[in-house]
Amino acid sequence: MTHEIVLTVNGQTERATVPASMTLLELLREPLHLTGTKEGCGIGECGACTVLLDGAAVTACLVLAVEADGCDVQTIEGEANDGQLSTLQQAFIDAGAAQCGFCTPGMILSARALLDRSPNPTDEEIVEAIAGNLCRCTGYEAIIAAVRRAADRIGGEGSDG
Ligand code: FES
Ligand code: FES
Repeated sequence: MTHEIVLTVNGQTERATVPASMTLLELLREPLHLTGTKEGCGIGECGACTVLLDGAAVTACLVLAVEADGCDVQTIEGEANDGQLSTLQQAFIDAGAAQCGFCTPGMILSARALLDRSPNPTDEEIVEAIAGNLCRCTGYEAIIAAVRRAADRIGGEGSDG
């Protein structure tokens, strides 16, 4: 059984005919070719597939595509603006917070959700925001520093870049 859905992905209206069992992760990576969203565990435990669904960070492997009907989705491809890295992306580079990079799209979107709701988070809030995102490479300190650096820069610039 299939369903017709319409959703907004990175500001673009997308229409798709999806099986009832298709996940949002499968929809993004396959028909929509947005492969920046990574599949790690496939069971909601690693956070590699994190995207924003109506502004909230969710694990796309646990969301059915039909549940995203009518919703606004942001993937990592929507984080840059006109080819310019966002302040948050640049902070990850500057802080050395991306090593193999597999966790990075999900980390950035968990951090994006945090900064959108709490522009000046405490380190505890940063840790809590990325608690569902596993990283095998960095030891997390550089990631926390990157989010702090982005928050400081965004505060200084007065934009959410
Ligand atoms: S792939 Fe979705 S949480 Fe691991
Ligand atoms: S940078 Fe490799 S898993 Fe995080």
